Amino acid sequence: MVSYFDQTSKKCVHQAVNACLAPLYSVEGMHVITVEGVGNRKFGLHPVQESLASRHGSQCGFCTPGFIMSMYALLRSNKTPPTEEQIEESLAGNLCRCTGYRPILDAFRVFAKSNDLLYTSGSGSVAVQESSNGEFICPSTGKPCSCGPDKEPVEHGYKPVSYNEIDGSSYTNKEIIFPPQLLMRKSSYLSLNGFGGIKWYRPLLLRHILELKSKYPDAKLVVGNTELGIETRLKKLHYPVFISVTHVPELNTLTVDHDGIEIGAGVRLSKLQKFLKQVVEQRPAHETSSCKAIIEQIKWFAGTQIRNVASVGGNICTASPISDLNPLWMASRAEFKVVDCKGTIRTVLAANFFLGYRKVDMRNDEILLSVFLPWTREFEYVKEFKQAHRRDDDIALVNSGMRVFLEKKEKNWIVSDACVVYGGVAPVSLLVLKTNDYLIGKTWNKELLKNSLEILKQDVVISEDAPGGMVEFRKSLTLSFFFKFFLWVSHQMDGQDSFNESVPVSHLSAVESFTRPSVMGSQDYAITKQGTSVGSPEVHMSARLQVTGEAEYTDDTPMPPGGLHAALILSKKPHARLLSIDDSGARSSPGFAGIFFAKDIPGDNFTGPVVEDEEVFASEIVTCVGQVIGVVVADTHENAKLAARKVVIEYEDLPAVLSIEEAVKLKSFHPNSHRCLAKGSVDLCFQSNQCHSIIEGEVHIGGQEHFYLEPQSTFVWTMDGGHEVHMISSTQAPQKHQKYVAHVLGLPMSKVVCKVKRIGGGFGGKETRSAFFAAVASVPAYMLNRPVKLTLDRDVDMQVTGQRHSFLGKYKVGFTNEGKVLALDLEVYNNAGNSLDLSLAILERAMYHSENVYEIPNVRINGNVCFTNYPSNTAFRGFGGPQGMLITENWIQRIAMEVNKSPEEIREINFINEGSILHYGQQIQDCTLHRLWDELKKSCNFAKVRSEVEDFNLHKRWKKRGVAIIPTKFGISFTTKFMNQAGALVQVYTDGTVLVTHGGVEMGQGLHTKVAQIAASAFDIPLSSVFISETSTDKVPNASPTAASASSDMYGAAVLDACNQIKARMEPVASLNKHTSFVELVNACYFERVDLSAHGFHIVPDIGFDWKTGKGHPFRYFTYGAAFAEVEIDTLTGDFHTRAADVILDLGFSINPAIDVGQIEGAFVQGMGWVALEELKWGDKAHKWVPPGCLFTSGPGNYKIPSVNDVPFKFKVSLLKDAPNDKAIHSSKAVGEPPFFLASSVFFAIKDAIISARAESGHHGWFPLDNPATPERIRMACADEFTAPFVKSDFRPKLSV
Ligand SMILES: Cc1cc2nc3c(=O)[nH]c(=O)nc-3n(C[C@H](O)[C@H](O)[C@H](O)COP(=O)(O)OP(=O)(O)OC[C@H]3O[C@@H](n4cnc5c(N)ncnc54)[C@H](O)[C@@H]3O)c2cc1C
Ligand code: FES
Repeated sequence: MVSYFDQTSKKCVHQAVNACLAPLYSVEGMHVITVEGVGNRKFGLHPVQESLASRHGSQCGFCTPGFIMSMYALLRSNKTPPTEEQIEESLAGNLCRCTGYRPILDAFRVFAKSNDLLYTSGSGSVAVQESSNGEFICPSTGKPCSCGPDKEPVEHGYKPVSYNEIDGSSYTNKEIIFPPQLLMRKSSYLSLNGFGGIKWYRPLLLRHILELKSKYPDAKLVVGNTELGIETRLKKLHYPVFISVTHVPELNTLTVDHDGIEIGAGVRLSKLQKFLKQVVEQRPAHETSSCKAIIEQIKWFAGTQIRNVASVGGNICTASPISDLNPLWMASRAEFKVVDCKGTIRTVLAANFFLGYRKVDMRNDEILLSVFLPWTREFEYVKEFKQAHRRDDDIALVNSGMRVFLEKKEKNWIVSDACVVYGGVAPVSLLVLKTNDYLIGKTWNKELLKNSLEILKQDVVISEDAPGGMVEFRKSLTLSFFFKFFLWVSHQMDGQDSFNESVPVSHLSAVESFTRPSVMGSQDYAITKQGTSVGSPEVHMSARLQVTGEAEYTDDTPMPPGGLHAALILSKKPHARLLSIDDSGARSSPGFAGIFFAKDIPGDNFTGPVVEDEEVFASEIVTCVGQVIGVVVADTHENAKLAARKVVIEYEDLPAVLSIEEAVKLKSFHPNSHRCLAKGSVDLCFQSNQCHSIIEGEVHIGGQEHFYLEPQSTFVWTMDGGHEVHMISSTQAPQKHQKYVAHVLGLPMSKVVCKVKRIGGGFGGKETRSAFFAAVASVPAYMLNRPVKLTLDRDVDMQVTGQRHSFLGKYKVGFTNEGKVLALDLEVYNNAGNSLDLSLAILERAMYHSENVYEIPNVRINGNVCFTNYPSNTAFRGFGGPQGMLITENWIQRIAMEVNKSPEEIREINFINEGSILHYGQQIQDCTLHRLWDELKKSCNFAKVRSEVEDFNLHKRWKKRGVAIIPTKFGISFTTKFMNQAGALVQVYTDGTVLVTHGGVEMGQGLHTKVAQIAASAFDIPLSSVFISETSTDKVPNASPTAASASSDMYGAAVLDACNQIKARMEPVASLNKHTSFVELVNACYFERVDLSAHGFHIVPDIGFDWKTGKGHPFRYFTYGAAFAEVEIDTLTGDFHTRAADVILDLGFSINPAIDVGQIEGAFVQGMGWVALEELKWGDKAHKWVPPGCLFTSGPGNYKIPSVNDVPFKFKVSLLKDAPNDKAIHSSKAVGEPPFFLASSVFFAIKDAIISARAESGHHGWFPLDNPATPERIRMACADEFTAPFVKSDFRPKLSV
């Protein structure tokens, strides 16, 4: 948070900003508070921290300080408590990959109070208000919400934290005040010299800027640095001179005059937005049409942190073709004032200012002084449009500013002036000249609309291989936006004398703007307490460290003297022979300490988790872009990267395989990777007359980036003269790190140790791939005998570390007229990339799950693992299961359309039952599917919602709603038998505290908390007496990776085994005397020389599978679940939101229901990303504008994971009650992966909505919809008159698979 004293308003301003884009120079004279300054464990947590921790808003904790700071800044900047809407808006620029955001919102909602009653009366005497339907009414908002007391339907839900519990009574550290000396301080002219010869000036007068500009014509003016920061940090552009104009009054003016508003070029967007809102309130409505459009556009411009610093002038002068504001300035007749070094001012029409790609009508000796925005006239209308991948904090795919001025002539309303401008369709914000010319003088009626749309098609020309792709979508959007504009203006004019274009009510849906209610979450579960702790919704054991920023991650490990930073030398080609490597530039680079290639590896260069088919450093041939060729170490991270960039490599290109389709054609499969599962006889069934219909089709499923918030990171050092190697790594698999490093260095495993305290998210991405980078870093550490740290930048991490596999499924399904499935013939292919890694096991799991929850008498599934020239894809939550089930649900939905029934009916008649034999021979036992399904249907009131949706769709032409209920059954166990083993070490100390170490890694999923609860209950002691410090290969050997959802089952059982051994040893002492406490008993045992340390071990019984016969028992048990989703789509733009999600899972007797709910919500929202938001775009045939094999979507700028505003408006999570599972510890069930697939309910609800949209245009048959259903796919599937000029109704937008 940056605070400063605003001399104009005479107030302190507190703002959250992005630290990575705020140069140190820019905060001179300001006060900066980071999370460390808010509260800490020694002196007490700030109420914001306390609330987030106690409401389970922190899982891995890596994102947590950012959320704390955003909320803290919001509270400090408001004299009165913020509204819930303000809270949600202020968090739009923060990402969390673990929690699904709902608990974060609930934690912060308490600060939106407007009525103290609930929060001051203590938890015992809360004043409960209820709405007519019995929902809890929040006193702060007067609306139903989930922050209410513990009562039905939130049975044993999260205990509400009352405001006085988090009012800071434990917060002894006084809130840091704004330093008085800064109030008095006068700003001064700054002239600073920075790193790399950079000069930073901060003049106080316009005259000084002009003098500096005359002295340094190439100097860059800087305000928010949000554009320049990206250019210098990511694009590596170097600017020697910066002139910060934040303190120059002329550039920060905001004045209202007779004709309009003068806006200084340095004015920040959040300030402009606030100012315009006041103007709109004060001026006559017709004058402020432009102002309203700008306010609306700024609402969707970046996140709060960016808007707080980004300036009007910075946006204009960047001249980005996708600038959100430039089309509006152009459309609204704005004028730009430009001043040269001599002080001469000239005025340019915004419409004439933008000359080409990032080129404006401004010379080097000129700067932008201000913008003049004229008032609109009566019957002059300005409107903004923007469509992005994600509504919040995303740059536009296409945006637009449109203006029309109508005048009544005789009996007609004639266009006397108009301006339509589009962004995102050309290298510059595009004035559509022909359309504008046409509009002028025409009557505002349907004919104008029809002709304008025709002309627009000629005006907007986007070439087939235009950067950004999505050509058909972008073209369709230009028409859709204009249509919306026509309706909107017509609606504004409705009722005017002689205006005959009134909008039919159903068409108003095209112009209704999106408003989002606050998220309402509810959680319903029963608590089955077992002993002191098991069953309790305990808070994550690290939560309090995470909210204060004190929790340590790998990169926080202090660098010892002599430590080095590593950077990778990466292949730039997807498939090529290495002809030469010139490293001379690197060797002479500043801070250089060493460079290593394949020839320098002391042990074996080949590694791999299953098959050793991957070189640590490519020796002769590279097989993907991003393959590691070598590593450079230097004194700093920046110097290491600089040196790596200086390595020159010559390649000879070889043909590359860049899709599953190409791999299948060329039979490019990994060796021995074909698999087949079969049951009954598919061929006989198809030949017989039993099947009334047979359908065939393809399902294309894109990949998904893990986007763990903590990137891959490892820190390696040698000990005892260099013969032992130790490391701290961010990994789910310390044992693999130990093994890889020993292998590559040629050391015995006993001399290599890997430790993990916690990791900032893994989701499968650190199950094997992290070990590869540990091996890379170990080479320089070992060879130079110096500590080496390797932390990947986000873009490198995304390009090189592999993702969730994309899949292709080809199905042929036979079924009866009732929709009963009789035969399934399926071919599945996954895109493994350039090494096998875990791809075969992932394919196998996809094949196991390819019937989801359906009993099919005849099944044949053939699977192949495709070798492609991409980085090796790897494990990701669900491990192939979701892809397998998604293929199934696709053809289920298609059968429903074929037999004219609802998909739910088809699902129900095909459900498995108790005793069903699956296609791989395992028998279904203890099946809770039917119970879950029935309870869910009741809970979401499915029949009623379905009929409401139908009614809505009947009355809204351009908005459609859809619903779906999806079931799941997820097999629990590693499908590789030997991995189902777990070890633990339990040590009891004489003060009665217990130290537990086990083989599992804490990655936010609450494993340590659950395992500690098991130990606490075992010894009948409080949870606070148990501690888990870290995971370490020298404490528990040969541990399997923390994966497959089974870690609580396995490590919980191993710990319990150790506890039971110790208890058995204590028993003789305990039986002799009555001890009043555990500590007394422990001491008595100690004096009796009882061993108080034990190693526990657990193997998962009764599992095994034989791929030769294709039969066996791969899973110990199944976790069942079901989810309902309701969505609404804008059929003209593809925009969508999830109105409701209701998720139910059978988790047996939950060990910690709060953690389990967190896992479900997190998995569901991550799954929503997979099915509807996140699209990886690779340089392949579908994306020729991306260099072959390169990842275009390699950062948060263009890869969009769900943000806080993507959470379903109503989000209910329930755990099935009274369903103990006798196959896992304490009758619980595994939770990590099973809920992920349930997010496909959102995908199928979207498809349901599209079906209604297509019906409006007469398209009733089945149509393909690939995963993810992004706005592009949604819009293009809603085939109508605006898509018809560009594509057919079965168009399939391009997808990297
Ligand atoms: C996370 C993120 C999200 C974003 N989202 C959006 C979005 O949704 N929509 C959108 O349109 N943009 C977006 N942007 C782009 C960017 O934030 C805007 O363009 C912003 O308005 C730039 O303002 P600034 O003050 O930070 O510019 P700076 O980085 O300080 O400067 C940008 C350029 O303008 C020049 N300049 C600044 N002021 C003047 C002046 N008075 N005279 C001459 N030249 C000047 C600078 O020299 C520099 O070349 C986003 C950027 C980020 C990092
Ligand atoms: S808790 Fe938010 S990213 Fe892990």
